[in-house]
Amino acid sequence: MCGIVGYVGKPPVVGTVLDALSRLEYRGYDSAGIAVFNGRGIEVRKRVGKLKELIASLNTQPLEGQAAVGHTRWATHGEPSERNAHPHLDCRGELALVHNGIVENYAELKARLLGQGHRFRSQTDTEVIAHLVEEHAKRLPLAEAFRSALKELRGSYALCLIAKRDPTHLHGARAGSPLIVGLGRGEAFLASDVPAVLARTRRVIYLNEQEVVELSTSGVKLTTLNGTPVARKPSTVSWDLSAAQKEGYDHFMLKEIFEQPSAVERTLYNRLDAAKGQIAFDHRTRAFLSRLSSREKFVIIACGTAYHAGLVGGYMLEELAKIPVDVDLASEFRYRAPMLDRDTTVIAITQSGETADTLAGVRLAKEQGAKVLAICNVMGSSIPREADAVLYTHAGPEIAVASTKAYTSQLTVLYLLTLSLAKRRGLVKPARLRELLTTLGRLPRLIERSLAAEPAIKRIARRYARARNFYYLGRRYNFPSALEGALKLKEICPRIHAEGYAAGEMKHGPISLIRNGWPVVFLATDSTVYEKVVSNIEEVRARKGECLLIASEGNRAIRRHADALITVPKTEELFSPILIAAPLQLLAYHIARLNGCDIDQPPNLAKSVTVE
Ligand code: G6P
Repeated sequence: MCGIVGYVGKPPVVGTVLDALSRLEYRGYDSAGIAVFNGRGIEVRKRVGKLKELIASLNTQPLEGQAAVGHTRWATHGEPSERNAHPHLDCRGELALVHNGIVENYAELKARLLGQGHRFRSQTDTEVIAHLVEEHAKRLPLAEAFRSALKELRGSYALCLIAKRDPTHLHGARAGSPLIVGLGRGEAFLASDVPAVLARTRRVIYLNEQEVVELSTSGVKLTTLNGTPVARKPSTVSWDLSAAQKEGYDHFMLKEIFEQPSAVERTLYNRLDAAKGQIAFDHRTRAFLSRLSSREKFVIIACGTAYHAGLVGGYMLEELAKIPVDVDLASEFRYRAPMLDRDTTVIAITQSGETADTLAGVRLAKEQGAKVLAICNVMGSSIPREADAVLYTHAGPEIAVASTKAYTSQLTVLYLLTLSLAKRRGLVKPARLRELLTTLGRLPRLIERSLAAEPAIKRIARRYARARNFYYLGRRYNFPSALEGALKLKEICPRIHAEGYAAGEMKHGPISLIRNGWPVVFLATDSTVYEKVVSNIEEVRARKGECLLIASEGNRAIRRHADALITVPKTEELFSPILIAAPLQLLAYHIARLNGCDIDQPPNLAKSVTVE
């Protein structure tokens, strides 16, 4: 969490850093700050609250200079306050540093530095790094002092530092948190993520773990922590700036919901030939899949929305590819004693590729001899780099905290993977495979039809916007949809309690809460469990709950069970979660909007959870 930016280049330096920070605000937004080298020394400005507070302050009292570092924060150590906001300075205010991550041994380092006479101003773990560099810089040149300080840190960091002593350079490093270099014409950036620099350049270098960078307008010096030079050519990112802008939508979330047909289309592109019954993966993934044994077991690990995609994946992989699958929250997986061996593949699903628990799960899997396949949206991020093979989703940058297009793209990859494995194992007849692949290829158009339900969803949202409790219920493939629908509402509308449940479990507790007018969203599309779901609907109606149903187009009989009805295209059961996703997202979006919630930046959340 937290977004960091460093910049050397042309004026307006401050404006450039603020613009870059505005594209990283999804990483945290409880305070923001900037430090600028103004030709004489370092000036700092910090504000509590969102970036707009900092921008307003800089509009009234501008700062300008030649190099700057900026930060948007999601508090870990120390409450959100000006004192705790980054950048942090050394004792003499001659170096400024921004940090994303957690320094786990900060207390012991702080005690030592206090003993050496350093004066601390904040309660953060980050400030120790500034003093530590200052301490080493008493004896060493800055770049060496920086590396020596890094060697003393335990925990995770992406760092960017500017110093009066060397104002034409940015110094950066990463361990456990992402950092990229952006190379423009006569300017250079360090940033947490690619969208920060897209307005200026698409030439980037992804830092690897434990790498250090020294950057100026005239060059990049990449080394290991020991100072050994590392050669790496910049890559050109394919995303363009429009992907990181709202483009007329009121919120990124809404824009991303409506981008789902194209995100799914891009994810399928070049991978699917329905007429020939073929699925194509890159060479590394093909080689990986061909190494799977006949006794192979899968463990899917993920967090948040990606976990819900994993749950759907579990159903389909067992049903169609006949592979035993466990699906686990990465934060649980890493602390239980999972039984992994060489016949286990751990599938890590993650939009960002940086989620701390998922990354730790990947490392645990590898330590125990399991193979790792990543499903990820961000090229060059940590998890794909540590995995044995990667299936990328091509959703484009997802900015809103609540994941939408990444989820449906993850499902798309899981469909491709499942059908490819079913084919390899001879478990699906060619004609049936072609039929399933044809539907897969039509998903972008079918999702468009699901999105067309928006006017009806808006009306339903108006009717229920004042409710304070919602249940979401589904069975089988749509049990994960129920969890995901409830999560969307919880994420973006903190005034509402929403809970997703397996419809069959209602009678084991939750049903006792149903009262007059309590809205219950039922996922009641045509399926093998449709009649069971209808029985559950009746049980809720008998207790005067309000039943909001999502059902298949053409199902007229369901109307009499519905207080409100949303329809989605009729399809095979396994594809229903991807068609149900958009209406659930839109329902949450419109309810949150009517409640005046901060949809793209809900309080207390951050998109990229790089701490435990
Ligand atoms: C956070 C985000 C969610 C996301 C989850 C997992 O909670 O707000 O949208 O689903 O992290 O993130 P990942 O990047 O691993 O998919």
